[in-house]
Amino acid sequence: MAALAACAPDNTAPSPVAANAASGVPSASETPSAATPGATATEPAPVEPAPSTEPSSTAPSSSVAPQHSLTDPTSPWVVVNKHRPLAPQDFVPADLVQPNIQLAVSGEAALLNSTTAAAAEKMFGAASSEGIIMTLASGYRSYSTQVATYNGYVASTGQAAADRASARPGHSEHQTGWSFDIGDGGGACSFQPCFAEQPAAVWAKANAHKFGFVVRYPWMFHETTGYFYESWHLRYIGVEAATDMATRGISTLEEYFGLEAAPDYL
Ligand code: DAL
Ligand code: ZN
Repeated sequence: MAALAACAPDNTAPSPVAANAASGVPSASETPSAATPGATATEPAPVEPAPSTEPSSTAPSSSVAPQHSLTDPTSPWVVVNKHRPLAPQDFVPADLVQPNIQLAVSGEAALLNSTTAAAAEKMFGAASSEGIIMTLASGYRSYSTQVATYNGYVASTGQAAADRASARPGHSEHQTGWSFDIGDGGGACSFQPCFAEQPAAVWAKANAHKFGFVVRYPWMFHETTGYFYESWHLRYIGVEAATDMATRGISTLEEYFGLEAAPDYL
């Protein structure tokens, strides 16, 4: 099956739908959704931002001295974006494991690198203790899976739309094992703009840093990250750095590490 998801390894043809915005939540003029029978995960939806007073950042303005490599894919601080492909492009984490958390997927998509898996177990446990249902909706994605994902997405939405939602092969954080997408077990808003309003996403936005995670593609920072808002996509960078970003109000890894914005491929 063609895999069309930005953040799910195996799914379906997106179709444009309208999404209503609640206060403080993005509205979307183009939000692919998926419905192919047999799909193992629902379709991520790129969230095209509506006009907002919230500033978007196109140039880094605040950075931190690197304690870890920004290029080594085994580093928790590796920055992968449209200007920074994975090296090697066929990188496979050596320590992929299946975390002991509620899974919405199986196979490689249920895997994370061991550090991320341990942090995810703590975060999911904390969320559960507060009554929040959180599932692993998409974890590790191999280079070959990303080929199918991206190509399928291009076939359905065209390249421009695909590039705002799905990384090209060799450019996805999912291939590092440091990132995963969350769901809430409900499904209706999975990978959709309205997921930002669901308890799992609200909780993650407020608490993920305590466990070392950041919302990697925040609202209104597509000119920096290259991708529309993905309230479901979390990235591990460590508790200290994630908490530092939250405390300082820094929204993107590009800004935090003093890297150039990467809105488009070079
Ligand atoms: N949705 C993110 C950008 C990915 O495909 O890795
Ligand atoms: Zn993702």
